[in-house]
Amino acid sequence: MHTSGFLGQFPARRMRRLRQTAVLRRLVAETQLLPSQLIWPLFVRPGRKERRPVSSMPEVYQLSVDEAVQAASQAVSAGVSAVLLFGIPEAKDEKASEAYARNGVVQQAVRALKREFPDLLVITDVCLCEYMSHGHCGVVEKHRGRVRIANDPSLALLARTAVSHAEAGADIVAPSDMMDGRVAAIRSALDRHGFEETPILAYAAKYASAFYGPFREAAESAPQFGDRRSYQMDPANAREALREVALDIAEGADLVMVKPALAYLDIVHQVKATFGLPTVAYAVSAEYSMIKAAAAQGWIDEKAVTLETLLAMRRAGADLVITYAAPQVARWLREGWGPQESSHHRKANPRLLGGQDP
Ligand code: PBG
Repeated sequence: MHTSGFLGQFPARRMRRLRQTAVLRRLVAETQLLPSQLIWPLFVRPGRKERRPVSSMPEVYQLSVDEAVQAASQAVSAGVSAVLLFGIPEAKDEKASEAYARNGVVQQAVRALKREFPDLLVITDVCLCEYMSHGHCGVVEKHRGRVRIANDPSLALLARTAVSHAEAGADIVAPSDMMDGRVAAIRSALDRHGFEETPILAYAAKYASAFYGPFREAAESAPQFGDRRSYQMDPANAREALREVALDIAEGADLVMVKPALAYLDIVHQVKATFGLPTVAYAVSAEYSMIKAAAAQGWIDEKAVTLETLLAMRRAGADLVITYAAPQVARWLREGWGPQESSHHRKANPRLLGGQDP
């Protein structure tokens, strides 16, 4: 961008003119964060009236289906229009049977949510890790004396899972396993079963990240041995992310995701700039928990920091943001305050002044 030629110089040019008041700043804001751009992850578990707190994620719960419906109704009234479902099954095994069971917990939740809220967008995470006794995202095989996560045998299970979600009424399926070829496998299975209109949101550039720590408690999906570095991406790599995204698009992905979000804004930016597809940033569990923890200590302003990070994801190029704080964020946004505008909070916390008028 050419920024020097036409700008002129001080004192004719004063950048601060357009920063004087909240209404002026809003007038020239380049980026907006809206409730309709938020996706809220929900963890569903078997049972009734179950609401189990996740200790590493304040205000996040594993919910039985009836409770998930309750939670969704609050999200809907706050203005959130999409949820992303994860399941904690009754039982785990070596072939992830509950992932594609007709009456699996996610399938039940999808049916209940779509029945209650036909307009709520229900997205399902398609993965095997929560359903495998070993906690890996694919089938585990012994190969020449070594244990490995077998790519191709995993594809059929993932495709079956996606079809079972679509049959239950899922609006979008979102594979997060990072097996090669899974988008193509899911696309063709969906089409074969008459779901050619069901979009795929591919976790296209998903990194092997320590920021997933709290999630693994929430979803009870920590690998029992080894780690996920043989299938999720190396945080060192950016160009590889573009190849991952290109392949997923070629295989039929309709929307693409970068995950985690905050430490990977360069990737979000490049993915959006390169491909232009609807792009989703996943503000993962530790991004949420770190803000909660620091806010609980009184070290940061939870609302201002949360909104600033999500706005940064939008500015980097994300059309949509997945966040555990979605209903709260939607309520904050409806109060009409953007980031840095929480004068109410400032009054309550004079220590948290920063960049305030005048
Ligand atoms: C399943 C999956 C994970 C997350 C989303 N889908 C965990 C993982 O890959 O280990 C992480 C989400 C988060 O940390 O919020 N494969």
